[in-house]
This record gives sequence, structure tokens and C-alpha cells, in this order.
Amino acid sequence: MSDGRRDVRAYHEVLEHLGEANSRALLATPALVCDLGLLRSNIERMASLARDADVALRPHVKSHKSAFIAEQQLRAGAVGLSFAKMGEAEAIVERLKVDGDFTAVSVLLTSPLVGRPSGERAAALAARCDLIVVVDHCDGVDELEAAAMASETTISVLCDVDVGLGRTGVVGAAEALAVVERVHAATRLRFKGVQGYGGHLQHIAGREHRREATIASTTRLGAVIEALESAGVAVAIRSGGGTGTMGLDVEIGLLNELQPGSYVFMDREYRDALGEDPEGRFAQSLTLLTSVISVNHEDYVTVDAGLKSMATDAGLPTVLGHEPKATYQFFGDEQGMVTYPGHSLRRGERLELVPPHCDPTVDRYDVVWLVHDDVVVDVIDITARGRSQ
Ligand SMILES: Cc1ncc(COP(=O)(O)O)c(C=O)c1O
Repeated sequence: MSDGRRDVRAYHEVLEHLGEANSRALLATPALVCDLGLLRSNIERMASLARDADVALRPHVKSHKSAFIAEQQLRAGAVGLSFAKMGEAEAIVERLKVDGDFTAVSVLLTSPLVGRPSGERAAALAARCDLIVVVDHCDGVDELEAAAMASETTISVLCDVDVGLGRTGVVGAAEALAVVERVHAATRLRFKGVQGYGGHLQHIAGREHRREATIASTTRLGAVIEALESAGVAVAIRSGGGTGTMGLDVEIGLLNELQPGSYVFMDREYRDALGEDPEGRFAQSLTLLTSVISVNHEDYVTVDAGLKSMATDAGLPTVLGHEPKATYQFFGDEQGMVTYPGHSLRRGERLELVPPHCDPTVDRYDVVWLVHDDVVVDVIDITARGRSQ
């Protein structure tokens, strides 16, 4: 287990009581708590799904940004890790080297890099791990090659293909071929394959709708792969997929590497979209612990988790264990209102909210408390918190 306590000396009051009954009551709120058993079973379940389907698993670290969780994912059999940002990768690689025995972890940067400083950072990172970077433009290839040459490093490259999200990626086979030719002409870059991530597919409600849309996206990626292979290019890695499509990606069979992230925690948005679908059978391991701070009204109470406590892009959290009677709404930056007709909640009582969207919520906290029932088992830092550059 990595030493997630390194940066959390301020929490020593709780740390002194780790493992004791009712230690959860000591936590200052709002606080992120994660059920360690559920987290472990989510990690295991995804690892065994990938193993059974004979696809490589490269979990996306953007969801948790934690060295501890990344380490658990690698130990469960992940071939490497995916990162959205260089800063995330730098922070996690550093910690994995210190705390774990991962000297050459395979790291995929899933967003294209731009500019000389980014190229230089990539080259420096490539000296510390087995680095793969996505590119979607010939200029990006040139920048990366210049940085790799200057530092005499070799960097592996995937061509990022737009499969319908429109965010990044080459738009078609001709552009992919141009990028790959440029990579082949470079002396310090190695072409490894393609990435096609369908972010627009992940939260489509209803498995049939999601399947149709996933097939359409995969067809776009398949056409690019076919064009590359017809031109004699070996496409060893075909990476993509997320929590919402991973079961479909396996059924369709084009991807040989999956990058799901949210499955470690899940969130309200995913729960609503996936329902009882096989992709939704991951447990809600992460909740936001909040305290009732005012009870002077019959039908509602005020809690200490407001707009600043969670990401708000995906709507409202649910109140765990009190649905559908209790409903949450924002009540300002620092407070929330829990409407609960006939409630008997008291001042200081704790409620657990299911965050609407886990990734940006986690990024608002220094630590996550690992719990088992009312016992705080451990604490882990959000190692790459705020590392969005
Ligand atoms: C490129 C990429 N891959 C994988 C993922 C993981 O997706 P999810 O969190 O839906 O599992 C994301 C999430 O945004 C992503 O941007």
C-alpha cells in the first residue's frame, strides 16, 4: 500500500484513531469517503472483465488522480495507466517510483500536446517511464520529434482518431496516414497504433441506443485502421473506450485496449445512464459526507456541502439511503438544502451524498478517506489534485 498519509499531517486527529469503531464521526465535513471494499471489488471486477475478454486494461487516472488507486489498478493486472494531462502523469509516476516498485510503468497521455515546453516535458517524462503520447496533427509530430531529439529520448506515439466526439483526433484516413508517415520519418518517435475515444457515447441511456452509437463510432475507427493496414502500417495498439461502453467495446471487438476511469467510484450521472446494464454493475464506492448544520424548518435541513463541494455540471447529488423522500438542492456556495418532509434529522447528524460527477468532484479535495462502515481504515491523498497543466 502506498503511503497516502505523506501530505496529510493536518489530519492527525483522525489518523490517531484509524481503525477504531466510529472513527468516521471524527471526520470534518464536507469530506470524500470511499468504501474500501467496494473500491477493491470495482478494481477487481474491471480487471477480470478485461482478462476474460483478452483485452488490455489501461485505466484512466483522471477519475481518481490517486497514486494509491493507480497502484491497486496496476497490481490487479492493468498494462499501464492513461492520463489526460502531463501534470497528472508527472505527479503519479513520481509517487509510483517512490512508493511502489513500478520503475517503468507504461503511461499513455490521451490528449494531444502542443508547444515546445510540452514536448520538452514529455521527453523528460519519457526518461522516467514507458511513455506513449497521442498526436492528431503533423505539427504535433514535429514538436515531439524535436524535443525527443534534443534530449536523445525515444517516445512512442498513437494517432488519435476522432470517432464522433469532435474534441481531438484526425478526422479521417487521409489525415491519419499523413500523421503516421510523419511519425515514420521521425528518428526518435515510434508509431504504436491508434486511439479512438467516444466520450459522447459513455452516458447514452439504454444499452441498445448506446450500442448503435458505439458501432457507428467504431466503424469510423475501423475504416482508419483498415486504411493504415492497407498502406502496410502495423497498428499494434487500438485504445479507447470508457466505463459506459466497455462491455460493448468488448462485444464489437475492434479495440484491444480499454481506458475506463469512472468505474472505480461511479457517480450519480453514470448510475442514471447505465441502470441495470452490465456496464453499470460497478458499486457506488465514493460519497460526500456532509453534516446537518441547521434544523429550524419542518420540511428541510441545511447541510454544509454547497456549490464548492462538488462538481455541478451533471445536476444534483442524491442523498444515499434516504431516496426518494430526501432531495438535495444547492443553497449557496457553502450550503445545501435537503428537503425531507416529516424528517427527524438533528443538528450535527451526517448524511452521505452521491456526487453527480466524480472526476471533477475528486479534484476539489486533498484527500479521500477510506472507510469500512463507521471505521476510517486509511486516508489517501489526491496525488495529482489540480495538476491540469
Ligand atoms: C480519452 C479518455 N479515455 C477514457 C476516459 C474514461 O472514461 P470514463 O470515466 O467514462 O470511464 C476518458 C474520460 O473522460 C477520456 O477522456
